[in-house]
Amino acid sequence: MRVAIIGAGPAGFYAAEALLKRVDTVVHVDVFDRLATPYGLVRAGVAPDHQNIKAVTRIFAKTAERPNFRFLGNVRLGRDLTVEDLRRHYHQILYAVGNEADRRLGIPGEGIAGCTPASVFVGWYNGHPDYQDAQIDLSMTRVAIVGNGNVAVDAARILLHTPAELEQTDIASYALATLRESRVREVFLLGRRGPAQAAFTHVEIKELGELEATEPLIDPRELADCGNPETLGQTPSDKNLLILHAFAAQPPAGRGKKLHLRFLVSPTEVLADAAGRVSGLMLEKNRLETRQDGTIVARGTGEMELLKVGMVLPAVGFAAERIAGVPYDERTKVIANENGRVVDPASRAVIANEYVVGWARSGPQGLIGKHKGASALVVDLMTADGAGLETRSLPEPEAIVSLLRDRGVRVVSFDDWKQLDEVEVARGARRGAPRDKVVALDAMLEVLGQH
Ligand SMILES: Cc1cc2nc3c(=O)[nH]c(=O)nc-3n(C[C@H](O)[C@H](O)[C@H](O)COP(=O)(O)OP(=O)(O)OC[C@H]3O[C@@H](n4cnc5c(N)ncnc54)[C@H](O)[C@@H]3O)c2cc1C
Ligand SMILES: NC(=O)c1ccc[n+]([C@@H]2O[C@H](COP(=O)([O-])OP(=O)(O)OC[C@H]3O[C@@H](n4cnc5c(N)ncnc54)[C@H](OP(=O)(O)O)[C@@H]3O)[C@@H](O)[C@H]2O)c1
Repeated sequence: MRVAIIGAGPAGFYAAEALLKRVDTVVHVDVFDRLATPYGLVRAGVAPDHQNIKAVTRIFAKTAERPNFRFLGNVRLGRDLTVEDLRRHYHQILYAVGNEADRRLGIPGEGIAGCTPASVFVGWYNGHPDYQDAQIDLSMTRVAIVGNGNVAVDAARILLHTPAELEQTDIASYALATLRESRVREVFLLGRRGPAQAAFTHVEIKELGELEATEPLIDPRELADCGNPETLGQTPSDKNLLILHAFAAQPPAGRGKKLHLRFLVSPTEVLADAAGRVSGLMLEKNRLETRQDGTIVARGTGEMELLKVGMVLPAVGFAAERIAGVPYDERTKVIANENGRVVDPASRAVIANEYVVGWARSGPQGLIGKHKGASALVVDLMTADGAGLETRSLPEPEAIVSLLRDRGVRVVSFDDWKQLDEVEVARGARRGAPRDKVVALDAMLEVLGQH
C-alpha cells in the first residue's frame, strides 16, 4: 500500500507512524512538505523559549528512520504537485496541511502598517522562510495584542523578554537582533470576554509572572466577578483565575516593562498617524451575555476608549489555506470532511481514498500531543476502507521523484534535513543556543551543496 501524506507537522508524523505500524499490510509512506524542513509548527510555531516542547521532534525523527518512510521536502501541493498526480502515484492520500491562514478581525484599518497578524510575527521570530522579510518595527513603546489564547501569550513573552532571555533560544538571529534594539515597554493583552472565559492555559500565564524585566498588571476590578481565591477549585478556568488574582494582589515590583491584562474589550478600528503607521486602537467595552445554549458571548456596550499603541498584533486564530483540487469547507474553514474522510463540501459525498488529519481537519485547536490519538483514528478508517486497494498497480516509487525533478523541483530528503540540522545546531552552539536556524531556502540549498 502506498500512501502520500501532505504536511510534515505533528498530525502528519503521527499518522505516518500509525500507518507504518500496520500489521495487516506493508505500507510505504511518502511525506511531502512545502518547506525544506520537517515538523510544521513545532519548528515554526512553538515559541523559541519553549524548547522542552520541541523535544517531540525526536519521536518524529525515529519515524523518519523507518525503512518505508520518505520525506520529500520543498514540494508544495497545488504548485509542484497536483491532487491528480497524487491519485496516480498513491493508493491513498492524507492531507495534514495545518491552518496556515489567519482569521481576521474584520475591522477598519486592519491593513495599516504595524497591524501584523500573529502568524506573521510568530513566523518571523521562528525563522519561517515565508516571513523572514516581514517588516517588524519595534521602535514604539506600546503594543496591543488582540486575543486571549496561548498564541497571544507567546507573542507577549517574546516582546517582553530581555535579550539575555532570548539569546539562548533558537529564535531566528535577525529577530534576536531586532528585539535587542526594541523600545517596547508596555504590552496590552486584550480579551473580548472576561478572565473566566480566557482561552490561555495556567502554565502559560504563570510564566508571564516570571519574566525577568516585566510585571504583569491587572486591575482588581477586572476580577470582581471572578470568585474568591480562597474557594477557587481545580478547573482550568479556576487555575487561570488564581494566577490572575495573584497578579492583581502583587505590590508594584518596579520592573521596567509592563504587561497589562485587560478584559471585556473589543477592537473596533485600527488608527493610523500621518505617516500611515498604527497610532492607536479604538476599543469598545463589552458585557457578557449567556445564550440559550449556555455559551457566554461578548456584547458591545457602546462605551468607547482609545488605546494609544504603535503596533497591533491580532492573535485571534487561524484557518486552513485553500489548495487547488482539495475540497474546502467555507463555513468551518478547514478541508471538507466527515470525521477525517474528505467529502464534497456541497453534497457531503465521500471522496474515496482521501483523508485529512490535524488542524486541517478540526481547525486551530489543541496541543501537539492530541494529534497522536486523533491521527491514529483516521488511520483506522484508512485501514478499514483500503482493504484490497494495494492490488491496484502504480508507477514505480521513484517515478514521483523523477516527475518533480522534471518540473525543476529540488526535493529535500530526510538525510538532507539531518545535515542541515547538524549545521544549525553547530551554529547555535556559538551563541549558547540549541540551534541557529538557516532560514532562506537558497541558504539551505547552499549548505546542502557544500556537503
Ligand atoms: C504559534 C503557535 C504556538 C504553538 N505552541 C504550542 C506549544 O507550545 N505546545 C503545543 O502542544 N502546541 C502548540 N501549538 C499547537 C500545535 O503547533 C498544533 O497543534 C500542531 O502543530 C498542528 O499540527 P498539524 O500537523 O495539523 O499542522 P502544522 O504543524 O501546521 O503542519 C502542517 C504542515 O503542512 C505543510 N503544508 C501546508 N501546506 C502545504 C502544501 N500545500 N503542500 C505541502 N505542504 C504543506 C506546512 O509547511 C507544515 O509543515 C502552537 C501553535 C501555534 C500556532
Ligand atoms: N504554549 C502552548 O501550549 C501553546 C502556545 C500557542 C498555541 N497553543 C495552542 O494552539 C491553539 C491555537 O491558539 P490560539 O491562541 O491561536 O487560539 P485560541 O486558543 O482559540 O484563542 C483565540 C483567542 O482569540 C479571541 N478572538 C477570536 N476572535 C476574536 C475577535 N474577533 N476579537 C477579539 N478576540 C477574538 C478568542 O476569544 P473568544 O474566546 O472570545 O472566542 C480567544 O481569546 C490553542 O489550542 C492553543 O492552546 C498552545
